[in-house]
Amino acid sequence: METEGYYFYRFGEPETLTPTKFAPPRKVQPAEGAPAKFPANACGFTLLKRGCRVQIPIGPEEEIYGFGLQLKGFACRGQKKALRPNADPVANSGDSHAPVPFLVSTGGYGIFIDTARYAEISCGVQRNDAAVAKQADQGVMTDVNELYRIREAVGVSDLILDIPAAKGIDLYVFEGQTITDIVAQYNLFSGGGCLPPYWGLGILYRCNAGWSAGDILQFAKGLREDAIPCDTIGLEPGWHTRSYSCSFVWSPERFPDPEGFLREMQREHFHVNLWEHAFTHPESPIHDALRPYSGDYLVWGGLVPDFSLREAREIFGGHHKQLIAQGVSGFKLDECDGSDYTGSWSFPNSTLFPSGLEGDQMHSLFGTLYMQTLMEALGAQGTLSEVRNAGALAASYPFVLYSDLYAHSDFIRGLCTAGFSGLLWAPEVRDAASKEDLIRRVQSVIFSPQAIINAWYCGQAPWVDWDAKAEIQRLFQLRMQLLPYLYTAFYRYATEGVAPVRAVVSDYTYDREVRGIDDAYLFGDAMLVAPLLAGQKERKVYLPAGEWYDFWTKEKVAAGWHTVATENIPVYVKSGTMLPLAKPVPFVGDETVFALRFECYGPAGGCRLADDIEERLLEVSFECGKVNWPGDSKRYHCEEVEFF
Ligand code: GAL
Repeated sequence: METEGYYFYRFGEPETLTPTKFAPPRKVQPAEGAPAKFPANACGFTLLKRGCRVQIPIGPEEEIYGFGLQLKGFACRGQKKALRPNADPVANSGDSHAPVPFLVSTGGYGIFIDTARYAEISCGVQRNDAAVAKQADQGVMTDVNELYRIREAVGVSDLILDIPAAKGIDLYVFEGQTITDIVAQYNLFSGGGCLPPYWGLGILYRCNAGWSAGDILQFAKGLREDAIPCDTIGLEPGWHTRSYSCSFVWSPERFPDPEGFLREMQREHFHVNLWEHAFTHPESPIHDALRPYSGDYLVWGGLVPDFSLREAREIFGGHHKQLIAQGVSGFKLDECDGSDYTGSWSFPNSTLFPSGLEGDQMHSLFGTLYMQTLMEALGAQGTLSEVRNAGALAASYPFVLYSDLYAHSDFIRGLCTAGFSGLLWAPEVRDAASKEDLIRRVQSVIFSPQAIINAWYCGQAPWVDWDAKAEIQRLFQLRMQLLPYLYTAFYRYATEGVAPVRAVVSDYTYDREVRGIDDAYLFGDAMLVAPLLAGQKERKVYLPAGEWYDFWTKEKVAAGWHTVATENIPVYVKSGTMLPLAKPVPFVGDETVFALRFECYGPAGGCRLADDIEERLLEVSFECGKVNWPGDSKRYHCEEVEFF
């Protein structure tokens, strides 16, 4: 990494209620000297009636990525991104479950814009000046292709940060060699990436919303009998006495003995995760206490807690502590994104909150403040939970984003984009249009940060409908094999800020071929994954410079473009990799020891293994058929080594 640290720029008089005010402690310091790549001296600032704007010149070759989870768009040059939290981002407009005012440029820098307003960023607009006028003098355009080409104007243009309401803005700039380096700085600035507990990386199965304790126990025991791995069972709205809005109280009809239910789930080695949203029903025991610390509009008849206030956090979190004490290990924080496209539910942008936050600011911060509240309640207990909105500086929260959208290709794009902004994304599987669709979707789930089957409206497990139990069992076992590798990638996220799943352009920033690749991604440091969709007989895969191996056939594959047809999910491993594959276990317990089979690719190389029990990092290497293993640890036992 080139620079460690951040550069700070203040324009005008910024607002006080911004993401940095609510952020965890930074893990990077201000950088020394002046930035090498960010054109600090060429930036312009203008105060407008509608807010303010910053102009940053960008070069003709620069491409821009980021802005949080983006399901509909990838490379942003020439586009305008409106950073509005939305539950159903229908187009490539910037709307997102989790928009983040952070962008990264192939010019070697990233900019965090410290605002909770709905900023709009135009990524490459031409200024009205003489040089541009000359360039634009191309005669009359009548041909459609020519017309579009001219719109993607070449030459220097501006990146425009358009921030409503504010009279000024703070920018934090990070520099690095690759996008991965730059984003790592941003992630460290956010407090470092999250490190979930080992079990959090296993399979999470969310049950039908109407199932009772008895139904769930029967299903869970069935998974164990069928040797289908699963670590966490998720309960959907039916566990509450009221949902939409929520009571946060167990339904006596469906869950007459919650402690007994949770004990039995624990006996079967399942963690339990509870669905909820924050909007608090009048019958909830916390409703009256929470009322003074809530916004002045309701959602679904429920209060909207002002989670920026200590009082609201204590009331809300205090109640959740009781659920955690009963044995709950995590939560699914639903509906915290709001909507402009699906019925406009959620609170208006002009809602007033007692902290002084206005509705739009609260929308931008809501998921993040909600996660903080739950993290405080969880205390030392680890989790890998879910959330449907996150925003700026959220890398350290062990929550993964999900969506009600369902296009498989959008879900894969989410795996590519989330990692640009310190977010994690789960391409969950619900029902499927065919057996092929189910299997193709589950393949992507296995190679993602959190492996979720969200069967909340399914009468039975989705694989039963398609007679696909054996295939799904094999895929879940593959996930369990990958856990030591994935856990170690998360360890790197926490300590170095490097996202565990990221776009190919993130590492290979200067390879022009990869700039538009939004259908393949890097899974950890050593694997490139290129999922196939149902109906796709073959696909094109690009392998960047270096030597690669096909994960399935172990054949060497050259860099460059290939056409691939396989029933497996195409996965490639970098030469020099020592892949630690665990013998699959049905769940990860505190004392699980992973029996490892190392796959060694190429003549020499190595890997690291993070041991959560001993809290240390094992360094392993191989050369010319010989392995340097530091000795078994409490988590890892070396059983076998293979060379390819
Ligand atoms: C949706 C959520 C789904 C499911 C459902 C239950 O908002 O995205 O995953 O939890 O609510 O009502």
